[in-house]
Amino acid sequence: MKKIVEEYRAVFPTPAALITSADEEGRANVATAGETFMMSLRPLVVAVGFRPATYTNSLIRKTREFVVNLPTVKILKAVDFCGTHSGRDVDKFKATGLTPLPSKHVKPPLIKECPVNIECRVRGIVTFGSHDVFAGDSLAIHVDEEILGNDGMPDISKAPTIAFANGRYYSVDTLLEPLRFSRSEKGEGGR
Ligand SMILES: Cc1cc2nc3c(=O)[nH]c(=O)nc-3n(C[C@H](O)[C@H](O)[C@H](O)COP(=O)(O)O)c2cc1C
Repeated sequence: MKKIVEEYRAVFPTPAALITSADEEGRANVATAGETFMMSLRPLVVAVGFRPATYTNSLIRKTREFVVNLPTVKILKAVDFCGTHSGRDVDKFKATGLTPLPSKHVKPPLIKECPVNIECRVRGIVTFGSHDVFAGDSLAIHVDEEILGNDGMPDISKAPTIAFANGRYYSVDTLLEPLRFSRSEKGEGGR
């Protein structure tokens, strides 16, 4: 039997990503975002959703830049901290020991401890309700060389990322089987 339940965060899991932003002087902030997704693969447009109350929302709105950093289970404590404290009250880089590295195109830094970092410049902002969605063109994708597999793609078993579902964190590291492209899908690319 199925039951209709009350409205909640019903699409799960999503990544627990670390989003860096910066103020106009370049002072960096970092916040955790489960609302992190791709709106287009070619060109790559990455979106993050932040409630107006967050410091990150006001920073991205002003500077129109952000970086999506994908953390691994090794830094789960920092991920949780960045999702439960505001940059208005605390310097989260100092508090967590996360290491900022300069980005190539934008002021918000990359996070060294995150093996994948995507620099983004906001192309559009949309709001349907609780969250403002910032959709950004990807300007550069940085990947730690050590996690690249023979096929040139990040190998998740070398860098287990964190999934967020129903108020809990999970490790994503078990390969079930590889995707097999059908002939018609080949060439569309981007999967
Ligand atoms: C796992 C996790 C996922 C979260 N995802 C989001 C999100 O997608 N959007 C959002 O507005 N807040 C999200 N939050 C809450 C913010 O990270 C939190 O309000 C944070 O303090 C905001 O920091 P800031 O004020 O420095 O921007 C999440 C928190 C956690 C722990």
